[in-house]
Amino acid sequence: MPLFLYLYFVERTGKIGVFDSGFGGLTILREFVDTFPMYDYVYLGDNARAPYGNKSFDLIYEYTLEGVKYLFDQGCELVILACNTASAKALRTIQQKDLPIIAPTKRVLGVIRPSTEEIGSLSRTGVVGILGTEGTVNSNSYGIELAKLSPKTTVIQQACPLWVPLIEEQAYDSAAGKLIIASDIKRLFDQNHEIDVIVLACTHYPILKSLIDSLVPSGVTVLSQGPLVAEKLKDYLIRHPEIEKRLTRGATLACYTTESSDYFNEHASEIFGQPLRAAHIQLN
Ligand code: DGL
Repeated sequence: MPLFLYLYFVERTGKIGVFDSGFGGLTILREFVDTFPMYDYVYLGDNARAPYGNKSFDLIYEYTLEGVKYLFDQGCELVILACNTASAKALRTIQQKDLPIIAPTKRVLGVIRPSTEEIGSLSRTGVVGILGTEGTVNSNSYGIELAKLSPKTTVIQQACPLWVPLIEEQAYDSAAGKLIIASDIKRLFDQNHEIDVIVLACTHYPILKSLIDSLVPSGVTVLSQGPLVAEKLKDYLIRHPEIEKRLTRGATLACYTTESSDYFNEHASEIFGQPLRAAHIQLN
C-alpha cells in the first residue's frame, strides 16, 4: 500500500470512542485515560439533547446510533457507551441489528454488565442500592444482570430524574439542588435500610460523589463506575487480542459536543480535571 494511503488509514482508524448524552461519560473517559494512557480516544457528548434518561426507547436508540456512527466515522474501532441509559435501551439493538450491517468488525460495549460483575461480592448485608435515571431504573437492567450474576443479592432501585439536568446545568451545588439529591437518597433508604453498597448507575453521578458520600449512613460504600468499567475493559482487551491489536497508540484525545464548544470546554475541563477542547458538531 502506498505510504500516503497507509498513513491515511492509520490516522483514520484504531481509536476508542466514548459516547455519552453529555458530560457524564467524562468520568469513564478519565479512568480509561489513566489506565490506558497510550491509546487514542474520541469523546462525544450529545449535550444539546441531554438528558436522555426520561426519553422514549425509540429516541434514545436513534440518538445513540447516530453517536456511534459518528464515532466510527472518526476512526473508532471500539465504542463504549459510557451512558447507562443508552446501554440499557440501545446497546443490544445496536450490537445485534446495526453492527453486522454498518461495521461488522467494530465493537460497541456498554457499562451495565461490567458494573454488575463484582457488586454482589462487595455487600455484607446482601442489599445493594442502585441510583440511576428513570430510563435505567425502569428498564430493570441492573436487576436482571444481578439476578443472573448474584442471585442472592437484593436490588433496591431509585430513579433520580433531576440529577442529570442539575449536573448539565451546573446547578447541583445550589440549596435546591442539594435538597433534591438528599430527598432521592432518603427515598432509596426508605425502601430498605439494609443497603450497604450503592452503585452510581449513571455516569453523571460521580460528579456528585462527595455530596452523596456525605448524605449516606456511615459504613455505606458508594461506587462510581469508572474504575469498574476500566478494569473490565482491560479484561476484554486481553480476551480479544484481535481488537486490541487494531488500537492505535498515539496517546491523543479529541472531543466533540453537540452543544457549543465554549459551554463544553468550560464545564468538561472541571469534570475531567484537565483542559479539554471540543469541536461543535451536529448529529442529525
Ligand atoms: N450519563 C447518563 C447515564 O449514565 C445520563 C443519561 C441522561 O442523559 O439522562 O445514564
